[in-house]
Amino acid sequence: MVVDLDGREVAVFRVDGEFLALANYCVHQGGPVCEGRLSGTLAEAPDGTLSYDHEGGVVACPWHGWEFDVRTGEALADPNYRQPTYDVVVEAGAVYVEA
Ligand code: FES
Repeated sequence: MVVDLDGREVAVFRVDGEFLALANYCVHQGGPVCEGRLSGTLAEAPDGTLSYDHEGGVVACPWHGWEFDVRTGEALADPNYRQPTYDVVVEAGAVYVEA
């Protein structure tokens, strides 16, 4: 879900029971990255074989398809690009995003 955090759109994901939060403003060109598809991605082994990995841990920006690790915010194609991430705290059944 996307929430407003002091004027910033932040998306909160639940992946494998863990809450994660990312800025909903793509570092590429400002697209609504967190409204994209949440899935996995292809990973290449040292021997060159490809396999599908990280199911549910990768969000693809709907504008140009850049993929980001929802845990770290890193762009999979270039880790020099990173979505801002936020700490999430769960207390008494409520989810809080820390600015
Ligand atoms: S704006 Fe997100 S990939 Fe281009």
